[in-house]
Amino acid sequence: MVTVRFATPEDLPSILTIYNQGIEDRIATLEQDTKDMSYITRWFAEHTGRYRVLVAENQGSVVGWADLHPYSHRCAYAGVGELSVYVHREWRGKGVGQALLRELEAFARENEFHKLVLGTFPFNSSGQGLYRKMGFREVGVFKNHGKLDGNWVDVMWMEKLLDVDVDR
Ligand SMILES: CC(C)(COP(=O)(O)OP(=O)(O)OC[C@H]1O[C@@H](n2cnc3c(N)ncnc32)[C@H](O)[C@@H]1OP(=O)(O)O)[C@@H](O)C(=O)NCCC(=O)NCCS
Repeated sequence: MVTVRFATPEDLPSILTIYNQGIEDRIATLEQDTKDMSYITRWFAEHTGRYRVLVAENQGSVVGWADLHPYSHRCAYAGVGELSVYVHREWRGKGVGQALLRELEAFARENEFHKLVLGTFPFNSSGQGLYRKMGFREVGVFKNHGKLDGNWVDVMWMEKLLDVDVDR
C-alpha cells in the first residue's frame, strides 16, 4: 500500500538515490552525472509556496517522488507548472507513478495552476504510458534537443489542461 505526502528534508537521501537511478538508466533526463546530497539539498530548497515535492511511501520507505517546478519565471506563465516524476527501480510498474501524479495534479488544481507540462524522451515508453494514462497529450517533439552520451536526442513535450477540455 503506497501513500503520497509532501517530502521533508529527511526524505532527501531516498529522493537522491531514486533520481540517480533515473540518471543511470538513461531514459529519464539529459543529466549524465549522478548527483550528491548538496545538489539535492539545494534543489529541494528551491521548492517553496506553490512548488512542492511529493513522495510515495511504502511501510516507511520512500519508493518514488514527483515535483512541481516553474515552467517559466515570467508572471504570464504562473499558471503553468512543470513536473518531474521518478520511481525506484524495484517499484516501477506497480502504480506508484500514477499515485504520485494523481496527488500532484490535485495539489496543482488547489494552487491555481491551469496546466501541467513536461518533457520526456520519445523512447521512454513507461513515462509516456503513464502520462497518456493520466490524460496528458503530446504537444510536439523538439529534434536534437540535447545530447546524451554524445548522441543527439529528441525531447517530446506533453501537457494536461486542468480547467478546460483539451478537445474544445
Ligand atoms: C516513468 C515512471 C515514472 C512511471 O511510473 P510507474 O510507477 O512505473 O508507472 P505506473 O505503474 O503508475 O503505471 C501507470 C501507467 O503507465 C503505463 N506504463 C507503466 N509502465 C509502462 C511500461 N513499461 N510500458 C508502457 N506503459 C507503461 C501504463 O499505462 C500504466 O497503467 P496500467 O498499469 O494500468 O497499465 C517510472 O517507470 C520511472 O520512474 N521510470 C524512470 C524515471 C523516468 O523515466 N521518469 C520520467 C521522466 S520523463
